[in-house]
Amino acid sequence: MSTKPPTRGVDGEPRVLHPWDEFARMKEPPSAFACATTRDWPGYFKAVAGKEPRETLVRALEIIEKPGFAIDLGCGEGRDTVELLAHGWRVLAIDGHEMAVGLTGHHPRLPAEARDRLEIRHAEMEAVELPQCDLLNASFSLPFCRPERFDDLWDRIHASIRPGGLFAGQLFGDRDTWASLPDRSHQTRRKVGEMFRGRYKLEHFEEAERDGEDARGNAKHWHVFHVVARRCPDGASQDAKSPTSSAGGSCP
Ligand SMILES: C[S@@+](CC[C@H](N)C(=O)[O-])C[C@H]1O[C@@H](n2cnc3c(N)ncnc32)[C@H](O)[C@@H]1O
Repeated sequence: MSTKPPTRGVDGEPRVLHPWDEFARMKEPPSAFACATTRDWPGYFKAVAGKEPRETLVRALEIIEKPGFAIDLGCGEGRDTVELLAHGWRVLAIDGHEMAVGLTGHHPRLPAEARDRLEIRHAEMEAVELPQCDLLNASFSLPFCRPERFDDLWDRIHASIRPGGLFAGQLFGDRDTWASLPDRSHQTRRKVGEMFRGRYKLEHFEEAERDGEDARGNAKHWHVFHVVARRCPDGASQDAKSPTSSAGGSCP
């Protein structure tokens, strides 16, 4: 028997599958991280479907003064995008997987009145144009940038955040299990420090490291930097190369 959905209903009319309905016929994935290990994004989206917004975004929304324009880079199934919309933001949601576009655009928590404040773009972070924004949110997406494009991506992220605007998201450390995968972008603590020092005030910085495993016993060592940082006003930058043992820094 075919497992493909019918393309026509009983009335002969074309049957359009709702993006979230597709989950019903997908088999249960082992775990979100097992899917992310292999870039099985449909499996990942099913594993995290309907979850609450990421903590770094929640922190950013708590400290930012008023809603503006946000980019959600690597939006996934839309958990952070819908939170931004619910808080009155205009959002450009970007993801390299087509399914993310459908899921975000039909997210169950997407406020109906907010649809005209949302633009969703199917694009690779390595090449996409990033317009000026008040908040750039990149939850658990930056490690999936091709390593040879990471520095360029970070330059474009920095250029897109207005002075006084925020970055929220994660960077993955060099002791994380995935760091050995050749297509991942991981940073040492020193490198993370250089990315923010003198250019951002760190509102929240947490280096988290722990061993974990999924229901099938697949081991994964996590080494993650959770960051919420405010870009310094123009002309306020310190010497980015000045040595310091702490990751990041603050505006002068
Ligand atoms: C681990 S998921 C995180 C999704 C979501 N931000 C969250 O917090 O659940 C990584 C996301 O990045 C997207 N992604 C991976 N590589 C990408 C690329 N090169 N360009 C754009 N998006 C990419 C995937 O499709 C996926 O939605």
